[in-house]
Amino acid sequence: MSTTASSLIDEQRFPQLAALMRTQYERTPAHRAFLESRFSRASAEDFATLEELASQIRQIAGPRLGEICDGYDFICKIVREEEIFFRRHGRYRLTTFEEANRLVYGNTEYMGRYMDGLLLTQIYWSNHTACYQFYRNVFLRQAPAGYDYLEIGPGHGLLLYQALKDERSGSVKGWDVSKASIGQTWDALTIMGMSGKKPELVLQDLYAVPDDSAKFDCLTFSEVLEHLEDPKGALVKLRSLLKPAGRLFVNVPINSPAPDHLYLLRSPEDAVDAVRAAGFEIERAEFFPMTNHTMEQARKHKLTISACIIARPN
Ligand SMILES: C[S@@+](CC[C@H](N)C(=O)[O-])C[C@H]1O[C@@H](n2cnc3c(N)ncnc32)[C@H](O)[C@@H]1O
Repeated sequence: MSTTASSLIDEQRFPQLAALMRTQYERTPAHRAFLESRFSRASAEDFATLEELASQIRQIAGPRLGEICDGYDFICKIVREEEIFFRRHGRYRLTTFEEANRLVYGNTEYMGRYMDGLLLTQIYWSNHTACYQFYRNVFLRQAPAGYDYLEIGPGHGLLLYQALKDERSGSVKGWDVSKASIGQTWDALTIMGMSGKKPELVLQDLYAVPDDSAKFDCLTFSEVLEHLEDPKGALVKLRSLLKPAGRLFVNVPINSPAPDHLYLLRSPEDAVDAVRAAGFEIERAEFFPMTNHTMEQARKHKLTISACIIARPN
């Protein structure tokens, strides 16, 4: 019997998503119940976004789609191990970049599988999809015409790609401290197509940016803060990179154990306070609980909540 994508996904309207889910369920049937529950809670708008993401991810994956689906299984396993540590000790396992570099970033094989899995969480974890929608529908949509865009740590490239294909954007730049990440972003953008506008991707450590650097209208910092040893220093640095009316988009997960997460925030309000304390005023903040849970459950049981914050220098 061949694997069906699910009665929850309309195969005629969402063929990319249906094809992706067929591959995922064939490779890892154990994830089916969780994922079906996730799709059962998705709105019509969510399905439109999921179809678009599935199309982009299938393009990026090419013949490696099966391997990438295995990467999702890998990420679930390693996150579960960290979750057990977090429940026992009430903190993340690692505290220094040196440890994360030695155990995670420096292990090419491990990192490859981890990055593969992260690509699919954009679809499978509703909080990740919600952050993507908030970024695109609120942050980018309200950017001024001809905006200069910088993303730090663009990783999978799905956010930077939105700015790149936005006809209202001016310059589009991406900075990352990791050569491998820059390569991953470049490959993804090349495969998805750059529509005439070329992004500038630069190997650049945020902490080492000179004071006289160019300033930006839009600055994206998605799922980076929790990886840092000095998050406060990073936020202050980000502020210095904005034009006076520029806007920062931060996406940071709360109570979110992972092998390379160092900075533990215990409530979404703590995330907002951290941004404010670095000299920003908050334009808007929205919080999204982990997949298949309500906000009440997430707060009560200290489960992951993604905090998305749009802020301006004050
Ligand atoms: C988990 S990835 C984020 C991927 C993507 N933005 C997302 O939303 O999923 C974190 C990225 O931040 C980069 N990064 C970490 N510390 C950095 C620093 N000090 N300067 C620039 N990039 C940094 C890492 O190399 C990595 O590519």
